[in-house]
Amino acid sequence: MHPAGPFLIPHESLRATTINGYHIPAGTRVFINTHGLGRNEEIWDNVEEFRPERHWLDDGSRVEISHGADFKILPFSAGKRKCPGAPLGVTLVLMALARLFHCFDWAPLEEHVDTREVYGMTMPKAEPLIVSARPRLAINLYN
Ligand code: HEM
Repeated sequence: MHPAGPFLIPHESLRATTINGYHIPAGTRVFINTHGLGRNEEIWDNVEEFRPERHWLDDGSRVEISHGADFKILPFSAGKRKCPGAPLGVTLVLMALARLFHCFDWAPLEEHVDTREVYGMTMPKAEPLIVSARPRLAINLYN
């Protein structure tokens, strides 16, 4: 729902081609709308619902987002020019979030969390999230 790069990085078609009946001439600037993919009701049911478990597969494994193999979700793009830092990015985000959740009890200061975004090359929140963070470990561990 909230990809870091809503249209990935602009690409250019080297050759003319046809995709889904649309003719793409050579030299066309191409934007991949991953933001739209994440909100497409033909792909996802109840798109607005926060349900991370929708990304678990029937065999208990997770959808592998860093390979760009599943075209329903492409936060790192796909193909030859996909993000080479995807596995590191996923690990860093997980580690940072894990530390923040382990070290603090978090609570939003406003009842309604505003999830609107600003569109651009990257997609930051329109309004900052204001929260309280209460340490949950021994205080000497926070130096
Ligand atoms: C969660 C973190 C990250 C996200 C969401 C992300 C996302 C992306 C996206 C969407 C692209 C454009 C792919 C395309 O051209 O269609 C990209 C390209 C790229 N990313 Fe990342 N990235 C992340 C972390 C990293 C890290 C940690 C590194 C390096 C250590 C990295 C290095 C690159 C490079 C070099 C490219 C250009 C690849 C090319 O044009 O051939 N990224 N990234």
